[in-house]
Amino acid sequence: MTLTIRKASENDDAVIAAFGRKTFETAFGSENDPDDMQSYLEDAFSEAQIARELKTPGTTFLLAFDRSHLKKRVLVEVHGGPELQPAGILQHSEELKQGANTEIGPKNYCEIASNETLVGYAKLEKSLPPACIRESNAMELGRLYVTAHHMGKGIGSQLIQACVDEASRQGYKTVWLGVWKRNFRAQALYERLGFVRVGTKTFVLGADVQQDLVYAKPL
Ligand SMILES: CC(C)(COP(=O)(O)OP(=O)(O)OC[C@H]1O[C@@H](n2cnc3c(N)ncnc32)[C@H](O)[C@@H]1OP(=O)(O)O)[C@@H](O)C(=O)NCCC(=O)NCCS
Repeated sequence: MTLTIRKASENDDAVIAAFGRKTFETAFGSENDPDDMQSYLEDAFSEAQIARELKTPGTTFLLAFDRSHLKKRVLVEVHGGPELQPAGILQHSEELKQGANTEIGPKNYCEIASNETLVGYAKLEKSLPPACIRESNAMELGRLYVTAHHMGKGIGSQLIQACVDEASRQGYKTVWLGVWKRNFRAQALYERLGFVRVGTKTFVLGADVQQDLVYAKPL
């Protein structure tokens, strides 16, 4: 797998909303009340909410792409001459197996090869830390999700490292996070990467008030 991690732009709101919703529901849907889950998903992963977060100073989304597993051809209609204008020209897009042919004639369409698949994301945010975080110059790792199909391949670890590097680059002294107390595998991963358990905080999912463990890593 060829993994690339890049910062999201304001144009990524719809992609992050859909991906964030799907990965959160897949991870925790079966262990929570469906009404609580639905209400949380609608609030936290609406396109409007993600668009707001993308514009919020101190919030950074990092997106992890697998650039190797699928060859995608995007067919675009070219308006007004040979120059390819990315905005507003998308007419048809198809994911094709590498090497497949298309019936659409070459005259009006050209193909751009793109083989990126979003496989994970993380969100860093300058939020109000719980009392157990003593360092005031602290950044929260607010979300960390990898698609079920890609788990256990090192993507989560690389995203965490990218978050640590980014927070450090921005001058923060600590990265902290909350993790559900029943999410043992994620806790094991954070501990392996140098995060230390420092306390607890509440997390509200719909009407359900849950306990999260708080972990922190000094930078
Ligand atoms: C936690 C998560 C981001 C880790 O990403 P990842 O790419 O699987 O992580 P890595 O491959 O770098 O490391 C694997 C380690 O992650 C942890 N892990 C957590 N959930 C896992 C899962 N469902 N499958 C595999 N590993 C998982 C384990 O500690 C594993 O270590 P192990 O190989 O010794 O079992 C990912 O599993 C995930 O999205 N889980 C569901 C959502 C979640 O729990 N997010 C964290 C919220 S605080």
